[in-house]
Amino acid sequence: MLISFCCAGTKSQPWLEGLHAAFPGAEVEVWSAGAPAADYAVVWTPPQQFIDEQPRLKGIFNIGAGVDALMKLRLPPGVPVVRLDDAGMSVQMAEYVCHAVIRHFREFDGYEADAAQGKWSYRKPHLRQDFPVGVMGLGVLGERVSRALTQFDFPVMGWSRSAKSIDGVQCFSGEAAFNDFLAASRILVCLLPLTPDTDNIMRQDTLARLKPGGYVINVARGSHLVDDDLIALIDSGHLAGATLDVFRTEPLPAAHPFWRHPQIIVTPHTSARTLREESLTQIAGKIRTLEDGAPIASLAGVVDPNKGY
Ligand code: NAP
Ligand code: GLV
Repeated sequence: MLISFCCAGTKSQPWLEGLHAAFPGAEVEVWSAGAPAADYAVVWTPPQQFIDEQPRLKGIFNIGAGVDALMKLRLPPGVPVVRLDDAGMSVQMAEYVCHAVIRHFREFDGYEADAAQGKWSYRKPHLRQDFPVGVMGLGVLGERVSRALTQFDFPVMGWSRSAKSIDGVQCFSGEAAFNDFLAASRILVCLLPLTPDTDNIMRQDTLARLKPGGYVINVARGSHLVDDDLIALIDSGHLAGATLDVFRTEPLPAAHPFWRHPQIIVTPHTSARTLREESLTQIAGKIRTLEDGAPIASLAGVVDPNKGY
Protein backbone atom coordinates (compact mmCIF):
# COMPACT_ATOMS: atom_id res chain seq x y z
CA MET A 1 0.00 0.00 0.00
CA LEU A 2 1.27 3.47 -0.86
CA ILE A 3 -0.02 6.55 0.96
CA SER A 4 0.81 9.88 -0.64
CA PHE A 5 0.92 13.03 1.49
CA CYS A 6 0.18 16.27 -0.34
CA CYS A 7 -0.65 19.00 2.15
CA ALA A 8 0.22 22.61 1.39
CA GLY A 9 1.68 24.62 4.26
CA THR A 10 1.99 21.57 6.54
CA LYS A 11 5.18 20.23 8.10
CA SER A 12 5.20 16.73 6.62
CA GLN A 13 7.65 14.79 8.81
CA PRO A 14 5.42 14.23 11.89
CA TRP A 15 2.53 13.18 9.63
CA LEU A 16 4.74 10.72 7.75
CA GLU A 17 5.99 9.29 11.05
CA GLY A 18 2.42 8.92 12.30
CA LEU A 19 1.28 7.18 9.11
CA HIS A 20 4.35 4.89 9.18
CA ALA A 21 3.59 3.99 12.79
CA ALA A 22 -0.03 3.19 11.87
CA PHE A 23 0.91 1.16 8.76
CA PRO A 24 4.42 -0.28 9.29
CA GLY A 25 4.24 -2.28 6.06
CA ALA A 26 3.14 0.61 3.86
CA GLU A 27 5.11 3.12 1.84
CA VAL A 28 4.34 6.69 2.88
CA GLU A 29 5.68 9.45 0.65
CA VAL A 30 5.44 13.20 0.28
CA TRP A 31 4.08 13.74 -3.22
CA SER A 32 6.18 15.34 -5.93
CA ALA A 33 5.34 15.55 -9.62
CA GLY A 34 5.82 12.21 -11.36
CA ALA A 35 5.88 10.18 -8.11
CA PRO A 36 4.34 6.65 -8.16
CA ALA A 37 0.55 6.47 -7.97
CA ALA A 38 -0.89 5.99 -4.48
CA ASP A 39 -3.65 3.89 -2.94
CA TYR A 40 -4.63 6.59 -0.47
CA ALA A 41 -4.08 10.33 -0.50
CA VAL A 42 -3.79 12.54 2.58
CA VAL A 43 -4.32 16.08 1.35
CA TRP A 44 -4.84 19.74 2.07
CA THR A 45 -5.45 22.02 -0.93
CA PRO A 46 -3.60 19.74 -3.38
CA PRO A 47 -2.94 20.90 -6.95
CA GLN A 48 -4.96 19.46 -9.83
CA GLN A 49 -1.75 17.77 -11.06
CA PHE A 50 -1.64 15.63 -7.92
CA ILE A 51 -5.15 14.34 -8.58
CA ASP A 52 -4.46 13.85 -12.30
CA GLU A 53 -1.47 11.60 -11.47
CA GLN A 54 -3.57 9.22 -9.31
CA PRO A 55 -5.23 6.50 -11.41
CA ARG A 56 -5.80 3.98 -8.60
CA LEU A 57 -6.83 5.90 -5.49
CA LYS A 58 -9.13 4.16 -3.02
CA GLY A 59 -9.70 7.22 -0.84
CA ILE A 60 -8.81 10.90 -0.47
CA PHE A 61 -8.45 12.04 3.15
CA ASN A 62 -8.65 15.79 3.75
CA ILE A 63 -6.80 16.98 6.87
CA GLY A 64 -9.43 19.62 7.54
CA ALA A 65 -13.20 19.81 7.89
CA GLY A 66 -13.80 22.08 4.90
CA VAL A 67 -13.46 20.54 1.45
CA ASP A 68 -14.21 23.64 -0.66
CA ALA A 69 -10.69 23.69 -2.17
CA LEU A 70 -10.96 20.02 -3.13
CA MET A 71 -14.43 20.47 -4.62
CA LYS A 72 -12.98 22.97 -7.11
CA LEU A 73 -10.76 20.23 -8.62
CA ARG A 74 -11.67 17.55 -11.18
CA LEU A 75 -11.78 14.53 -8.89
CA PRO A 76 -11.75 10.89 -10.02
CA PRO A 77 -15.35 9.63 -10.08
CA GLY A 78 -16.27 7.10 -7.44
CA VAL A 79 -13.26 7.76 -5.17
CA PRO A 80 -14.51 8.75 -1.71
CA VAL A 81 -13.41 12.11 -0.33
CA VAL A 82 -13.34 11.95 3.45
CA ARG A 83 -13.14 15.10 5.60
CA LEU A 84 -12.08 15.29 9.23
CA ASP A 85 -15.07 14.47 11.37
CA ASP A 86 -14.47 16.67 14.43
CA ALA A 87 -11.06 15.17 15.41
CA GLY A 88 -10.82 17.70 18.26
CA MET A 89 -12.09 20.70 16.28
CA SER A 90 -15.57 21.12 17.69
CA VAL A 91 -14.43 21.89 21.23
CA GLN A 92 -11.96 24.48 19.88
CA MET A 93 -14.71 26.04 17.79
CA ALA A 94 -17.04 26.15 20.79
CA GLU A 95 -14.32 27.90 22.83
CA TYR A 96 -13.66 30.43 20.09
CA VAL A 97 -17.29 31.31 19.38
CA CYS A 98 -18.35 31.43 23.04
CA HIS A 99 -15.35 33.66 23.73
CA ALA A 100 -16.28 36.00 20.87
CA VAL A 101 -19.95 36.15 21.88
CA ILE A 102 -19.16 36.75 25.54
CA ARG A 103 -16.43 39.28 24.76
CA HIS A 104 -18.94 41.28 22.76
CA PHE A 105 -21.89 40.82 25.14
CA ARG A 106 -19.85 41.72 28.25
CA GLU A 107 -18.01 44.57 26.46
CA PHE A 108 -14.60 43.22 27.46
CA ASP A 109 -12.90 45.21 24.69
CA GLY A 110 -14.27 48.39 26.33
CA TYR A 111 -13.03 47.28 29.76
CA GLU A 112 -9.60 46.52 28.29
CA ALA A 113 -9.44 49.96 26.69
CA ASP A 114 -10.47 51.57 30.00
CA ALA A 115 -7.93 49.52 31.96
CA ALA A 116 -5.20 50.56 29.55
CA GLN A 117 -5.91 54.13 30.64
CA GLY A 118 -6.10 53.25 34.34
CA LYS A 119 -9.90 53.88 34.36
CA TRP A 120 -12.16 52.07 36.87
CA SER A 121 -15.47 52.39 35.03
CA TYR A 122 -18.62 50.25 35.00
CA ARG A 123 -20.81 49.49 32.03
CA LYS A 124 -24.51 48.79 32.35
CA PRO A 125 -25.15 45.02 32.17
CA HIS A 126 -27.02 43.83 29.07
CA LEU A 127 -29.88 41.36 29.08
CA ARG A 128 -28.98 38.14 27.35
CA GLN A 129 -32.48 37.82 25.89
CA ASP A 130 -31.56 40.94 23.87
CA PHE A 131 -28.62 39.04 22.32
CA PRO A 132 -30.09 36.04 20.49
CA VAL A 133 -27.36 34.12 18.66
CA GLY A 134 -28.05 32.56 15.25
CA VAL A 135 -25.72 29.79 14.11
CA MET A 136 -25.67 29.11 10.35
CA GLY A 137 -24.74 25.47 9.83
CA LEU A 138 -25.68 22.81 12.36
CA GLY A 139 -23.20 20.15 11.36
CA VAL A 140 -20.37 18.70 13.41
CA LEU A 141 -19.10 22.12 14.46
CA GLY A 142 -22.29 24.20 14.43
CA GLU A 143 -24.19 21.76 16.62
CA ARG A 144 -21.42 21.71 19.25
CA VAL A 145 -21.20 25.52 19.17
CA SER A 146 -24.98 25.90 19.51
CA ARG A 147 -25.10 23.54 22.47
CA ALA A 148 -22.19 25.36 24.14
CA LEU A 149 -23.93 28.73 23.75
CA THR A 150 -27.07 27.41 25.42
CA GLN A 151 -24.94 26.69 28.52
CA PHE A 152 -24.56 30.47 28.94
CA ASP A 153 -28.35 30.92 28.65
CA PHE A 154 -28.23 32.90 25.40
CA PRO A 155 -31.27 32.39 23.21
CA VAL A 156 -29.81 30.22 20.42
CA MET A 157 -31.17 29.67 16.93
CA GLY A 158 -29.72 27.43 14.26
CA TRP A 159 -30.16 27.17 10.50
CA SER A 160 -29.34 24.18 8.29
CA ARG A 161 -30.41 22.60 5.03
CA SER A 162 -32.29 19.68 6.55
CA ALA A 163 -34.50 19.96 9.63
CA LYS A 164 -32.79 19.39 13.02
CA SER A 165 -33.80 19.05 16.61
CA ILE A 166 -31.27 20.19 19.23
CA ASP A 167 -32.20 20.67 22.88
CA GLY A 168 -32.49 24.35 23.74
CA VAL A 169 -31.89 25.50 20.15
CA GLN A 170 -34.65 26.90 17.95
CA CYS A 171 -33.96 25.21 14.64
CA PHE A 172 -34.78 26.68 11.22
CA SER A 173 -34.15 24.88 7.95
CA GLY A 174 -34.10 25.55 4.25
CA GLU A 175 -34.07 28.72 2.18
CA ALA A 176 -37.69 29.54 2.99
CA ALA A 177 -36.84 29.93 6.68
CA PHE A 178 -33.64 31.93 6.17
CA ASN A 179 -35.11 35.42 6.49
CA ASP A 180 -37.02 34.52 9.66
CA PHE A 181 -33.84 33.04 11.12
CA LEU A 182 -31.87 36.20 10.34
CA ALA A 183 -34.57 38.50 11.68
CA ALA A 184 -34.58 36.58 14.97
CA SER A 185 -30.76 36.82 15.35
CA ARG A 186 -28.60 39.61 16.73
CA ILE A 187 -25.28 37.78 16.75
CA LEU A 188 -24.71 35.74 13.59
CA VAL A 189 -22.19 32.88 13.56
CA CYS A 190 -21.21 31.34 10.21
CA LEU A 191 -20.34 27.64 10.30
CA LEU A 192 -21.49 26.70 6.82
CA PRO A 193 -19.39 24.86 4.29
CA LEU A 194 -18.43 27.00 1.30
CA THR A 195 -20.54 25.87 -1.69
CA PRO A 196 -22.17 27.71 -4.59
CA ASP A 197 -25.28 28.09 -2.37
CA THR A 198 -23.43 29.67 0.53
CA ASP A 199 -20.86 31.81 -1.30
CA ASN A 200 -21.44 35.51 -0.39
CA ILE A 201 -24.28 34.51 1.93
CA MET A 202 -23.40 37.34 4.33
CA ARG A 203 -23.97 40.44 2.21
CA GLN A 204 -25.84 43.74 2.42
CA ASP A 205 -29.40 42.40 2.08
CA THR A 206 -28.92 39.42 4.41
CA LEU A 207 -26.89 41.18 7.11
CA ALA A 208 -29.35 44.08 7.07
CA ARG A 209 -32.02 41.65 8.31
CA LEU A 210 -30.20 41.05 11.60
CA LYS A 211 -31.55 42.87 14.63
CA PRO A 212 -30.13 46.37 15.11
CA GLY A 213 -26.77 46.21 16.87
CA GLY A 214 -26.04 42.95 15.05
CA TYR A 215 -22.67 41.28 15.33
CA VAL A 216 -21.00 38.87 12.89
CA ILE A 217 -18.69 35.98 13.77
CA ASN A 218 -17.26 34.29 10.68
CA VAL A 219 -15.35 31.10 11.40
CA ALA A 220 -16.13 29.22 8.19
CA ARG A 221 -14.64 30.67 5.00
CA GLY A 222 -13.84 34.23 3.90
CA SER A 223 -15.94 33.97 0.75
CA HIS A 224 -19.12 33.64 2.79
CA LEU A 225 -18.82 37.35 3.58
CA VAL A 226 -18.88 40.40 1.29
CA ASP A 227 -16.20 42.47 3.02
CA ASP A 228 -17.33 45.92 1.85
CA ASP A 229 -20.96 45.23 2.81
CA LEU A 230 -19.90 44.32 6.35
CA ILE A 231 -17.85 47.49 6.72
CA ALA A 232 -20.67 49.66 5.31
CA LEU A 233 -23.21 48.15 7.73
CA ILE A 234 -20.88 48.67 10.69
CA ASP A 235 -20.09 52.22 9.65
CA SER A 236 -23.81 53.00 9.20
CA GLY A 237 -24.41 51.80 12.78
CA HIS A 238 -26.70 48.87 11.88
CA LEU A 239 -24.06 46.36 12.94
CA ALA A 240 -21.98 46.73 16.10
CA GLY A 241 -18.94 44.86 14.79
CA ALA A 242 -17.45 41.52 13.87
CA THR A 243 -14.98 38.85 14.89
CA LEU A 244 -13.43 37.32 11.78
CA ASP A 245 -11.17 34.28 11.63
CA VAL A 246 -11.29 33.58 7.88
CA PHE A 247 -10.74 35.79 4.84
CA ARG A 248 -11.01 35.80 1.06
CA THR A 249 -7.23 36.10 0.86
CA GLU A 250 -5.14 34.49 3.59
CA PRO A 251 -2.96 35.75 5.13
CA LEU A 252 -5.15 38.86 5.24
CA PRO A 253 -3.24 41.47 3.18
CA ALA A 254 -1.59 44.22 5.25
CA ALA A 255 -3.61 46.92 3.47
CA HIS A 256 -7.00 45.31 4.11
CA PRO A 257 -9.32 47.65 6.08
CA PHE A 258 -10.37 44.85 8.47
CA TRP A 259 -6.97 45.13 10.21
CA ARG A 260 -7.54 48.69 11.32
CA HIS A 261 -11.31 48.82 11.79
CA PRO A 262 -11.95 49.58 15.48
CA GLN A 263 -15.05 47.35 15.60
CA ILE A 264 -13.52 44.36 13.84
CA ILE A 265 -11.40 41.71 15.56
CA VAL A 266 -9.16 39.67 13.27
CA THR A 267 -7.61 36.28 14.09
CA PRO A 268 -5.43 34.26 11.67
CA HIS A 269 -7.65 31.27 10.73
CA THR A 270 -7.08 29.63 14.05
CA SER A 271 -10.53 29.04 15.55
CA ALA A 272 -10.35 25.25 15.15
CA ARG A 273 -6.94 23.87 14.22
CA THR A 274 -6.25 20.44 12.81
CA LEU A 275 -4.86 18.40 15.70
CA ARG A 276 -2.34 15.98 14.26
CA GLU A 277 -2.64 13.06 16.67
CA GLU A 278 -6.46 13.00 16.63
CA SER A 279 -6.51 13.40 12.87
CA LEU A 280 -3.96 10.65 12.25
CA THR A 281 -5.89 8.27 14.48
CA GLN A 282 -9.10 9.06 12.63
CA ILE A 283 -7.60 8.75 9.14
CA ALA A 284 -5.69 5.55 9.93
CA GLY A 285 -8.85 4.01 11.40
CA LYS A 286 -10.78 4.80 8.24
CA ILE A 287 -8.07 3.44 5.92
CA ARG A 288 -8.12 0.21 7.95
CA THR A 289 -11.90 0.06 7.65
CA LEU A 290 -11.69 0.40 3.86
CA GLU A 291 -8.85 -2.15 3.65
CA ASP A 292 -11.04 -4.56 5.62
CA GLY A 293 -13.61 -4.27 2.83
CA ALA A 294 -16.25 -2.29 4.71
CA PRO A 295 -18.60 -0.17 2.57
CA ILE A 296 -17.68 3.49 2.12
CA ALA A 297 -21.04 4.48 3.58
CA SER A 298 -19.91 3.06 6.93
CA LEU A 299 -17.32 5.86 7.30
CA ALA A 300 -18.22 9.14 9.00
CA GLY A 301 -17.30 12.28 7.11
CA VAL A 302 -17.65 11.05 3.52
CA VAL A 303 -18.34 14.07 1.31
CA ASP A 304 -21.43 14.04 -0.88
CA PRO A 305 -20.19 15.39 -4.24
CA ASN A 306 -23.70 16.57 -5.12
CA LYS A 307 -23.96 18.71 -1.97
CA GLY A 308 -20.28 19.74 -2.05
CA TYR A 309 -19.69 19.08 1.67
P1 NAP B 1 -20.65 19.91 8.34
O1 NAP B 1 -20.69 18.90 9.44
O2 NAP B 1 -20.64 19.45 6.94
O3 NAP B 1 -21.92 20.85 8.57
C1 NAP B 1 -22.35 21.78 7.63
C2 NAP B 1 -23.69 22.34 8.06
O4 NAP B 1 -24.06 23.39 7.15
C3 NAP B 1 -24.82 21.31 8.03
O5 NAP B 1 -25.69 21.51 9.11
C4 NAP B 1 -25.53 21.64 6.72
O6 NAP B 1 -26.90 21.31 6.70
C5 NAP B 1 -25.38 23.13 6.68
N1 NAP B 1 -25.54 23.64 5.31
C6 NAP B 1 -24.80 23.35 4.21
N2 NAP B 1 -25.28 23.99 3.13
C7 NAP B 1 -26.35 24.69 3.55
C8 NAP B 1 -27.27 25.54 2.91
N3 NAP B 1 -27.20 25.81 1.60
N4 NAP B 1 -28.24 26.11 3.66
C9 NAP B 1 -28.36 25.83 4.98
N5 NAP B 1 -27.51 25.03 5.66
C10 NAP B 1 -26.51 24.47 4.95
O7 NAP B 1 -19.40 20.88 8.52
P2 NAP B 1 -18.58 21.22 9.85
O8 NAP B 1 -17.64 20.15 10.18
O9 NAP B 1 -19.54 21.65 10.90
O10 NAP B 1 -17.71 22.47 9.33
C11 NAP B 1 -18.32 23.63 8.79
C12 NAP B 1 -17.28 24.49 8.10
O11 NAP B 1 -16.43 25.11 9.07
C13 NAP B 1 -16.29 23.74 7.20
O12 NAP B 1 -16.85 23.48 5.93
C14 NAP B 1 -15.12 24.69 7.13
O13 NAP B 1 -15.22 25.54 6.01
C15 NAP B 1 -15.24 25.52 8.41
N6 NAP B 1 -14.11 25.31 9.33
C16 NAP B 1 -13.36 26.37 9.71
C17 NAP B 1 -12.32 26.19 10.60
C18 NAP B 1 -11.49 27.34 11.07
O14 NAP B 1 -10.47 27.13 11.72
N7 NAP B 1 -11.89 28.56 10.83
C19 NAP B 1 -12.03 24.92 11.10
C20 NAP B 1 -12.83 23.86 10.69
C21 NAP B 1 -13.86 24.06 9.80
P3 NAP B 1 -27.38 19.77 6.76
O15 NAP B 1 -27.01 19.31 8.16
O16 NAP B 1 -28.84 19.83 6.57
O17 NAP B 1 -26.62 19.05 5.70
C1 GLV C 1 -10.13 24.57 8.49
O1 GLV C 1 -10.44 25.62 8.06
C2 GLV C 1 -10.81 23.35 8.15
O2 GLV C 1 -11.62 23.35 7.23
O3 GLV C 1 -10.54 22.34 8.82
